[in-house]
Amino acid sequence: MSSKQLTAAVFACLLMLAAPLAAQQENNCIKCHSKLMPNLSKPAKLYEHDIHNSVGILCNDCHGGDPTNERRHDRDDPAQGFKGKPATADIPALCSKCHSDATYMRSFNPSLPVDQMEKYVTSLHGMLLEQGDTKVAQCISCHSVHDIRGASDPGSPVYPLNLPKTCSHCHSDKEYMADYGIPTDQYEQFATSVHGVPLLERGDLSAPACNDCHSNHGAFPPEISDISAVCGMCHVNNQQLYRQSFHAEIFEMMESPGCVTCHGNHGIAHPTDEMLAAGDQSACGTCHAQEPDDPGFAVSLAMKVTMDSLNGLMHSTRELVELAEQKGMETSDLSLELRSMRQNYIQTRTVVHTFSDSAVAASARPGIEQGKLSMAEALGLLKAHEARRWWLAGATLMLLIVLGALYLKLREVESEE
Ligand code: HEC
Ligand code: HEC
Ligand code: HEC
Ligand code: HEC
Ligand code: HEC
Ligand code: HEC
Ligand code: HEC
Ligand code: HEC
Ligand code: HEC
Repeated sequence: MSSKQLTAAVFACLLMLAAPLAAQQENNCIKCHSKLMPNLSKPAKLYEHDIHNSVGILCNDCHGGDPTNERRHDRDDPAQGFKGKPATADIPALCSKCHSDATYMRSFNPSLPVDQMEKYVTSLHGMLLEQGDTKVAQCISCHSVHDIRGASDPGSPVYPLNLPKTCSHCHSDKEYMADYGIPTDQYEQFATSVHGVPLLERGDLSAPACNDCHSNHGAFPPEISDISAVCGMCHVNNQQLYRQSFHAEIFEMMESPGCVTCHGNHGIAHPTDEMLAAGDQSACGTCHAQEPDDPGFAVSLAMKVTMDSLNGLMHSTRELVELAEQKGMETSDLSLELRSMRQNYIQTRTVVHTFSDSAVAASARPGIEQGKLSMAEALGLLKAHEARRWWLAGATLMLLIVLGALYLKLREVESEE
């Protein structure tokens, strides 16, 4: 390669590098809009971080018009194809022009679903928009606009940690939702629930956000018959036992929403054994008479007795083990046994969903047996420790007597000299 050719090649490379920069500068939409008043310049400024910008989609792909035109668009000149700001009701069609086009989307990202519109039109949001209600959520209510990000980008409003706030922007606004007569406490309840606390306070992505139960684009409360499936996506064992139980069919006939009947939907609390006792926390006593001669409630009370035995043994053993530890005794075997009792307790709580006292008793048996053994073991350890203390005290006393005698003997010898 001659030096002339080399210079030409380097020059070509530089030109290629500069080309996108030039294209950017030639984009008169951005150039002019950046200098306008806030509501007109904001889109141009935000767009830098928009995922569409990163794949080369520009203002005119959504708004029409000609980005090489240095003069302001003229709405009255059809040749410019300028469409302006889309009406709210037209936004889903605008977005799905690309997002429902499988061939087009595949050329960018083959793994991206193309069913958003298909699902959206079946949601209550989509159906109401179709009827002209523009207060419902459409694509940009959840995804924002000019600052649209990938769903897995932590800055996206649909990222799991941000999503509950995105929904509650409307759903917690009493005034905004007043026309619809539905509750507005979903976020408030969710935020303090077994799911909201790990998600929002600990960033635990295994806990569900609103869309895990309501789906991303088909936002509808789940049908009564689907609720156990919704919860069962994550709580597989509970769902299996519940589905196999006699209650599943009875609840469906009663139009009682499965898991939600006993646990609630947004404000789910940590279940306790008290749900099996009489009183206002009773999960069974909402339908069954809270009396021992109601066959359903009798089963509830029997399960409570089993859970109490297991729990009682676990607590007493733990206290004895802690005492032994304080006295400096070797308790690692007992700690392992305690852990296996805890495991048994957790499993048995799940077996409650058979609603059979004998199944719960059978599940708890190994834990209770273990509990009795471990407790005896811990007591044995403490007794041995006590015995050793007596032995030690006896031995010390003996030693003192011997020392005393020795001392007296020494003095005797000294005085004889
Ligand atoms: C020379 C400046 C200039 C250029 C170039 C320009 N605009 Fe505008 N644009 C304006 C001004 C001023 C307004 C507000 C007045 C109006 O609505 O016409 C506006 C309004 C808009 C609106 C809102 C219209 C509405 O219906 O409310 C959109 C959308 C828009 N421009 C998009 C674009 C796009 C896309 C391009 C490039 C193809 C572009 N603009 C190029 C100056 C410009
Ligand atoms: C992916 C599609 C899309 C792209 C790309 C896009 N916009 Fe928009 N733009 C929209 C939608 C949708 C709205 C309506 C927002 C609303 O209803 O609040 C809008 C609204 C606007 C408005 C009106 C703002 C207002 O508050 O009245 C302006 C101005 C605008 N866009 C300019 C731009 C400019 C400049 C670019 C390029 C930097 C751009 N848009 C790129 C979809 C897009
Ligand atoms: C001109 C075609 C086009 C239009 C119109 C369009 N998009 Fe996109 N969109 C794309 C392409 C291409 C991607 C990038 C796919 C990729 O590479 O991951 C994308 C990406 C996205 C993503 C990120 C997906 C992910 O998780 O990775 C979201 C969200 C999105 N668009 C929403 C919208 C919304 C909302 C609108 C309407 C306001 C819209 N899009 C309009 C073509 C378009
Ligand atoms: C009620 C809120 C909501 C509305 C309305 C909505 N989306 Fe989404 N969208 C989401 C959520 C939530 C996700 C998934 C986030 C995740 O994967 O964690 C998502 C994901 C996406 C993705 C990434 C691919 C995928 O399907 O997971 C695209 C693209 C997208 N939406 C486009 C759209 C378009 C186009 C519309 C309008 C037809 C729309 N969305 C309406 C909430 C919404
Ligand atoms: C732009 C405001 C807005 C946003 C954002 C929004 N919604 Fe909605 N949503 C509404 C309105 C308005 C209704 C209609 C209420 C009705 O008719 O009962 C509705 C209806 C619903 C319903 C059906 C309620 C019923 O009556 O049975 C569910 C479920 C729902 N939204 C869930 C969500 C979830 C989950 C999100 C976030 C991913 C979300 N919404 C985001 C405004 C919004
Ligand atoms: C663990 C699953 C789950 C989560 C998480 C969840 N929901 Fe729900 N939601 C439900 C169920 C189930 C119903 C149906 C009500 C019923 O039959 O008890 C419902 C009902 C609704 C309704 C209808 C009105 C009502 O309150 O009954 C709206 C609106 C709603 N949810 C919005 C939300 C929003 C917003 C979030 C996030 C802050 C959210 N949901 C989180 C399961 C969930
Ligand atoms: C996306 C997965 C997911 C879905 C869907 C889900 N959960 Fe959960 N749930 C979890 C996780 C994860 C935890 C544990 C959170 C923690 O670390 O404390 C949990 C905790 C619980 C607990 C407390 C357990 C305990 O030991 O204290 C109950 C009760 C519960 N969920 C019931 C439900 C019900 C009822 C539904 C349906 C309406 C549901 N969950 C839907 C993931 C899910
Ligand atoms: C008839 C009432 C009832 C129904 C229906 C019900 N549960 Fe429970 N659930 C309970 C009771 C009672 C406990 C607490 C047992 C205890 O702590 O002694 C519990 C405990 C739990 C726990 C914590 C213990 C564990 O298994 O980790 C989870 C999670 C749970 N339920 C999920 C579900 C799911 C998911 C469904 C639906 C498939 C469901 N429950 C249906 C009454 C019910
Ligand atoms: C939503 C209402 C509802 C709740 C909550 C409920 N049950 Fe039931 N249960 C029924 C109905 C209805 C029947 C069938 C009629 C009957 O025997 O009373 C039934 C039947 C039973 C039976 C069979 C009784 C027999 O006659 O042999 C048992 C056992 C039972 N339930 C236990 C429980 C336990 C334990 C709980 C709490 C963990 C519980 N149920 C919570 C509605 C409920």
